[in-house]
Parts: sequence; C-alpha cells; structure tokens
Amino acid sequence: MYQKPRILATRNFPPAVMERLLKDYHVITNDSDEHLTSEAILEKANKVDAIMGSPTNPFQKDLIEALPSNVKLITTFSVGYDHMDVAAADKCGILLSNTPDVLTDATADIAILCMLGAARMAHSSAEFLRAGKWDRWSANQFLGVQVSGKKLGILGMGRIGQAVARRALGFDMEIHYHNRRPVNDDRLKDAIYHETLESLLPNCDFLSINCGLSEETHYLINDTTIAAMPDGAVLVNTARGPIVEDEALIRALKSKKLAAAGLDVFENEPNLNPGYMDLPNLFVLPHIGSATIETRNEMGFKCLDNLDAFFAGKALPSQIKL
Ligand code: DGY
Repeated sequence: MYQKPRILATRNFPPAVMERLLKDYHVITNDSDEHLTSEAILEKANKVDAIMGSPTNPFQKDLIEALPSNVKLITTFSVGYDHMDVAAADKCGILLSNTPDVLTDATADIAILCMLGAARMAHSSAEFLRAGKWDRWSANQFLGVQVSGKKLGILGMGRIGQAVARRALGFDMEIHYHNRRPVNDDRLKDAIYHETLESLLPNCDFLSINCGLSEETHYLINDTTIAAMPDGAVLVNTARGPIVEDEALIRALKSKKLAAAGLDVFENEPNLNPGYMDLPNLFVLPHIGSATIETRNEMGFKCLDNLDAFFAGKALPSQIKL
C-alpha cells in the first residue's frame, strides 16, 4: 500500500499551504507560531523523510550532522538560506531548497516603503498624529528628504535589487549599483555599475541593501562605510540585519550623519536594539518583506513543489547548491 512521505513542518504555514501539505503528505505539524527548537526538531526527525522549515530554524552544522539518515531533504520557506549550512548538508547527503523569485516583488515593494517611510518621516509623523499632538499645518513640520530625482545606490543587484531599481526609475532616480558583475537588463541599461563598494558609497543619497548575508557581507555597513556616504544620506535594509552594524547605524542616526534609515530587518531579531527606540529618524518594520497573502502562499507552494519533485524522483525546482 502506498505510504505518503512523512514531513516535519516546523511551524504553522499559511492555510492554503497547510491544506495541500496535509492532503499530499503525512505531516508532523507544529500548530503554533512558535518555532521548534533544534532539540524538538531532532526529537521528531527520526519519524520523517523531509523537513519544511523557515529562517527561524538554524539548520547549522551541529543540527544537520545530528539528523538521522532518513531525513533526505530540508526545504526552507524563505529565499535567504544563511540559516542553513550548505556544506554540512552536502556532506551528509541532505538536499536543500529555498523559494527564489516568488517574493521578489513583495520584498522590493517593502524596500520602496522603507525608503519613502524613512525619508518622509512616516513613523514619527504618524505617531505624532495618533498621540493627538497635531494642532495645525505648519510649513516647517516634518520636513523630510526628497526622494525623486536622487541617486539610489543598490548593494546586491540580484532579483530583488533589480526589482528595487526598476521601481526607483518611477521616481526618476539615478541608479548606481555594486554587484559581482554588471546586470544585463534593458530596462536598467542606464544604471551605473561600480566594481567596488568604495566607489558606490559616495553616490548613495539612498543606499538600499539587497545582498545576501555571508561572512563577506557581515557588518559590511559600519562606521567606515557609513562615513563614505554623503552627509544626510538614507539607508534602507530589507535583506538581513547583520549586514549592518546596528551600533554604527545608531551613531550615524544620532549624529545626523545619516538623515534617516528604513529597516525591515535588524540584528538580533526580534529584539530591536534599545538604542533605536527613541530615534525619530528610524522607520522600522518587523521583517515583513514577503508578508502578503499571495506571496506567502507562493512561497509555501514552492516548498511543496520541491517536496513533490523530490518524492517523484525528479530534480528540485529550486535546489540550493554548494
Ligand atoms: C526570506 O525569504 O529570506 C525572507 O527574509 C523571509 O521572508
């Protein structure tokens, strides 16, 4: 008799995704929004063939190496995979997959929201209004930084970086970018490529971080790199928190070296550095880049497509390769 493959779902995924998962697989669920600890994952791992996880499950070397050999695939409900040790998985013969493409637009939208929200003081002005403090229109109140027509520097011109650039063209921005290599997209033919970060930074009235987190990019934005940006620039991070050294950014926002920052991600999530708390020039969101119903469904379906392909003996649609 056909036995459905067994999957450990480390958290509660969107309803449409859970429906398909439960229909096609025998699932050990975690019906809460709490993530499973590594210990809890290990406890359940001997009963499953694959794991569907998320960035809150650190599949690092220790955990990967401790997994029993019945676990053949880990599919992560995210495009980022800095929480997974790809080399360790490769060594243990465990396949990994992620969810590229489907969250590009939603995340690029949030980058634009962070750029506008930071530049135009959306947080402090809305909070002022809601606190009942607004008594009249004033010509000098909440004066932000103009976005239209400025130079936008993009660090990391992958799918999301390019989608941010295309949106920024609608604001007549001049696009500069640093990436391993120049991009080949007609719509971005006027974008200016910088071989080095040092060459990009002085051109960033706005800097949007869209690269992945790795040893090379950890704390890439620090006191020194911030000093190389124009005075009064605006920093936007929708990629991964630890690319920016929080303490350096807090110093720059306090001294007004940077006019503002728009963050969807930050170090040590979900705990916001207390140094950020009272900064009026910070627009910050709780890592909601991909958080639309459509996108989160697509992310889940992408995980399922990878599971389906694996159990049908086919190549994974989005395998993470070493
Ligand atoms: C990702 O997919 O990597 C996001 O950060 C989580 O939405």
